[in-house]
Amino acid sequence: MSQKIKMGVLADVPPGAILEKRIMARRVAVFNDSGRLIGMESDCKHMHASLAKGDISNGTVTCPWHSWKYDLASGKCLTVDKFSLKKYDLEIEGETIYLVLP
Ligand code: FES
Repeated sequence: MSQKIKMGVLADVPPGAILEKRIMARRVAVFNDSGRLIGMESDCKHMHASLAKGDISNGTVTCPWHSWKYDLASGKCLTVDKFSLKKYDLEIEGETIYLVLP
């Protein structure tokens, strides 16, 4: 059964911003890539830095610790291609953003 996680409201995540929550042992986030909202895991596969402190640019997010890059459309790691981050559906109800955990 899926679970909807309330992440915040649209005003919390303007373009270029990342809104993160820790759900039990995992970090998940809403990434705003030039107005496009993306739900994705936000725990770097290298040494588990939070990608919420990373930079979004040209459809990618760059980890703040050692600069691994991830493609926001696919979740694929562009630095070490055997890794990828899970993507999650988002639902917007009014101004509120929910992330759907399967
Ligand atoms: S922890 Fe993300 S690149 Fe090292």
